[in-house]
Amino acid sequence: MWGEQPSCSPHCYISSQGTSLIRDRWATKTGLILALAGNAIGLGNFLRFPGQAAANGGGAFMIPYFLSLLLIGIPLMWAECAMGRYGGRFGHGHTAGIFHRLWPHPISKYIGVFGIFIPFTVALYYIPITSWCLAFSWFSFSGAYEGLVTRAEIGDFLKAFQGWESNAHFHGRGALYFFFLLTLALNLMILTGGIARGIERFAKLALPALFGLAVVLVIRVLTLSPPAGAGPDQTVLSGLGFVWNPDLRLLGDWKVWMSAAGQVFFTISVGWGIIHTYTSYLGPDDDVALTGLSTVSLNEFAEIVLGGTIAITASVVFFGIIATQDIVAGGTFDLGFQAMAIIFQQLPFGSLLGGIWFLLLFFAGLTSAVAITQPAVALIQEGFGVTRGRAVALVGLALLTLSVPALWWRGVLDELDFWAGTFALLLFGFAEAVIFGWIFGIERGWREITRGADIRVPAIVKPVLKYVTPVFLGAILLGFVFQSLGGPLESAPWQIWGARGLMLAIFIGLASMVRVALRASPTEDA
Ligand code: ALA
Repeated sequence: MWGEQPSCSPHCYISSQGTSLIRDRWATKTGLILALAGNAIGLGNFLRFPGQAAANGGGAFMIPYFLSLLLIGIPLMWAECAMGRYGGRFGHGHTAGIFHRLWPHPISKYIGVFGIFIPFTVALYYIPITSWCLAFSWFSFSGAYEGLVTRAEIGDFLKAFQGWESNAHFHGRGALYFFFLLTLALNLMILTGGIARGIERFAKLALPALFGLAVVLVIRVLTLSPPAGAGPDQTVLSGLGFVWNPDLRLLGDWKVWMSAAGQVFFTISVGWGIIHTYTSYLGPDDDVALTGLSTVSLNEFAEIVLGGTIAITASVVFFGIIATQDIVAGGTFDLGFQAMAIIFQQLPFGSLLGGIWFLLLFFAGLTSAVAITQPAVALIQEGFGVTRGRAVALVGLALLTLSVPALWWRGVLDELDFWAGTFALLLFGFAEAVIFGWIFGIERGWREITRGADIRVPAIVKPVLKYVTPVFLGAILLGFVFQSLGGPLESAPWQIWGARGLMLAIFIGLASMVRVALRASPTEDA
């Protein structure tokens, strides 16, 4: 049943030295699906999606969004799950090792480095943003921003907290660091527990809590009444209509297509390397087909039904459609942090509702933060034979020091988000589609996807994965290169170039580690 794999019990693998090593495993299928869904459902669903949808024409955005989901997102999710489980047979929990096995060529492991580089680099700003959500939850419950009811006032409060501007609300970055360290410590604590006893246990608690909080907010938003003096478009129905009524004229705008594809990658976590890592802890014949589909389905429920309803509808009811578009034009955080903080203050039990909103964001962020930290942990643990606790501590130390520039300077954060959190996802997604469909080979790939499957994967997925996914993704990527690269630099050049230098240093550092870690590892199935 293990094909070419040498004999070994289902819970171990044969190392490159020929010894049999025990590997962590998911304890239950439900736990794995919750962990994968927790990894996918994140700030992208509740902060990024409403911002992207509103900025790209609402309903017009949803057509390329669903096409990207069907033609790229779901096929790649299945491919990544299959690749991850395949790599896990050889003890690899990171894409450098997995690609090294999929394609016996010296370059393959360096392409795989992207699957460690992307999540690690995104973690440098994702964990800080998650910590802001925890902070704002506390600020709402404790009434710290009560009475700040204009976007300018809340914006100043947020920037003062971030240390990006100083004013009367905060002195120094003490509060910022307190919440950041708390969030980082929670993340590391969960990871120290391991796959089944850390990540899986946490997901079993956090996911139901997250859905519970979101449902409370959806019910509250759907029962909102427009404020006094509201215009005719300020209703719950207009808010929902804004997300669901497509304006077909906007489909001619390439930027809408790129944003939609980018959002699909970000939200379901394909093109990151983290799906590979999570599924590498599966058994060799465990299902990946139903697992992948369940992950996407749970994520889309959280994104479209919950994420799409809460922020956009609330903002349309309180500010109207034009003002909502104006808010999101100011930045991804403006809808979630500024508009929502203002809206909840207008409602009875506003500080409770605001606290719930930011707590929801925090839970969503933390379940994803754990996932984006794990590939680097896997590299150190497996590649250098150190214990999990030490590997987690080393990655924690790296995150603590390397997050400082993103915590301090907005220009650095934006630059990391653009290159690692957007461009690299599409690039890595394209590379893996080609490697899986053409080099590893679609026939072998299909066998991997369907082996042990608990559902019948439609046969059409096979040609889609081989032809449509790379072509569609390649076109999006080319459009992205022409339209987005080389645009005017909006932040201070030293922040932009500093961030680029940091990313290059991280990539080279990881590539060097991979080179050492895989030196003795054979590429052919031993
Ligand atoms: N997929 C995760 C999110 O949406 C990373 O935030």
